[in-house]
Amino acid sequence: SILIVDFGSQVTQLIARRVREAGVYSEIAPFTAAADAFERMKPRGIILSGSPASVLDEGSPRVPQAIFDSGLPVLGICYGQQVMMHQLGGRVQAGDSGEFGRAFIEIGDRCALFDGMWAEGESHQVWMSHGDKVTALAPGFRPVAASAGAPFAVIADDARRYYAMQFHPEVVHTPDGARLLANFVRHVCGCSGEWTMAEFRAAKIAEIREQVGTGRVICGLSGGVDSAVAAVLIHEAIGEQLTCVFVDHGLMRAGEADQVVSLFRGHYNIPLVHVNAETLFLSGLAGVTDPEAKRKFIGKTFIDVFEDEARKIGGAEFLAQGTLYPDVIESVSFTGGPSVTIKSHHNVGGLPERMNMKLVEPLRELFKDEVRALGRELGLPDIFVGRHPFPGPGLAIRIPGEVTKERCDILRKADAIYLEEIRSACLYDAIWQAFAVLLPVRSVGVMGDGRTYDSVLALRAVTSTDGMTAEAFGFPGDFLPRVATRIINEVRGINRVTYDYTSKPPGTIEWE
Ligand code: XMP
Repeated sequence: SILIVDFGSQVTQLIARRVREAGVYSEIAPFTAAADAFERMKPRGIILSGSPASVLDEGSPRVPQAIFDSGLPVLGICYGQQVMMHQLGGRVQAGDSGEFGRAFIEIGDRCALFDGMWAEGESHQVWMSHGDKVTALAPGFRPVAASAGAPFAVIADDARRYYAMQFHPEVVHTPDGARLLANFVRHVCGCSGEWTMAEFRAAKIAEIREQVGTGRVICGLSGGVDSAVAAVLIHEAIGEQLTCVFVDHGLMRAGEADQVVSLFRGHYNIPLVHVNAETLFLSGLAGVTDPEAKRKFIGKTFIDVFEDEARKIGGAEFLAQGTLYPDVIESVSFTGGPSVTIKSHHNVGGLPERMNMKLVEPLRELFKDEVRALGRELGLPDIFVGRHPFPGPGLAIRIPGEVTKERCDILRKADAIYLEEIRSACLYDAIWQAFAVLLPVRSVGVMGDGRTYDSVLALRAVTSTDGMTAEAFGFPGDFLPRVATRIINEVRGINRVTYDYTSKPPGTIEWE
């Protein structure tokens, strides 16, 4: 295994992800707990992360001496490089400019990290983000690559198997970064590269058992992939100590609520409380047209209903959530200050404090595609695991203006036709998210011999890798006209269909 010492970089989890992708097990320990983790894990190698700190600051984080005394391979990234130099006898100075963003490095010499990929004289793109820089190498090190701003972009001490780089190999803007990390963990540390999701599952199950003991856990299901995967994993760990609560706000797509209930009760036999709260939600939404007001009402009501149910169940000490890594980073802003709220995301935030519960979040270090892989590993049906993301507030934010039962039903029908056509054209998996939006606009049409005056529907489909940025999906020529015709013919209340070409930014994926 590999120990990743976290000095507080925003992208430390990406290091873990790359190491997992190389088929090697890793654990992240904050630098304050690194000595203990090192002792307990007995890793084959150590990776030191970046940090917002400067090694020149008094009290800035250090590497536990036991790591250097162990004789094990160490890879330092950015701050990790600087702290290695600082502790091993080199020198770090505050840069007057720093380097941020894309940079190119020249390969000066070979080293084990470059095996099978980079050779002398080549130039390669990397992603830099540093203010301080190394100005003198510690004894034993030699430079193997340099950039304009960092003469020691990559350095190596082959005898001790110490390597360090000023740039970030873990981010996608360093195109060969994943291979550099794979070379470190496999070739330098000698890890076999056979670790899989099956082992992640086993390790998490052991961890959940240890955390929960004989306690009771409640898990809120949203109908989405994340909470479902978390619930199934936790159920496998602790069985009947888990109760799931599905707060059904009546704002799901056609058939989705039934699917959740039959999956949990029928397929997995997981204790499930299904709360049908459609009337409560719709009556509260009556007359509400402001997007944020809708989101706030739904979020708050969700929590109230959930809390009531949890109280009825009683005795639960733990609350399980399907929080993913991107949720964790999106909730802390890059600068440490508060970030601007574009939309109040609906989740059970604030609930654990209010209910005085401890959190169980087994997916916290995973990315969406890894959660899907884990879901498949746990035997969740493909149709469920591969499902497009769906927002917590559901159809309410896809009905600009007032949300009524009638409008939800119209939207559900149109949306189902759209998705059915997407699936039968085999385009579902090529799209990040596809959905229909029922607009509060009516237009005049002619059907048969009569005049119509009905609602306009917007269709949206986007490609994205993480939901943070997105582009409109380009459908093949006859697809959209066919869908438009079907929807207008089959759904009463809609007489015009449009397609939304907006990318994100400047648009957002959802309309509200
Ligand atoms: P936006 O509309 O902000 O959406 O571009 C980005 C991604 O987040 C989803 N989304 C939500 N997911 N609760 C969620 O769990 C929410 O309140 C919420 N709002 C938007 C959206 O569907 C897209 O995938």
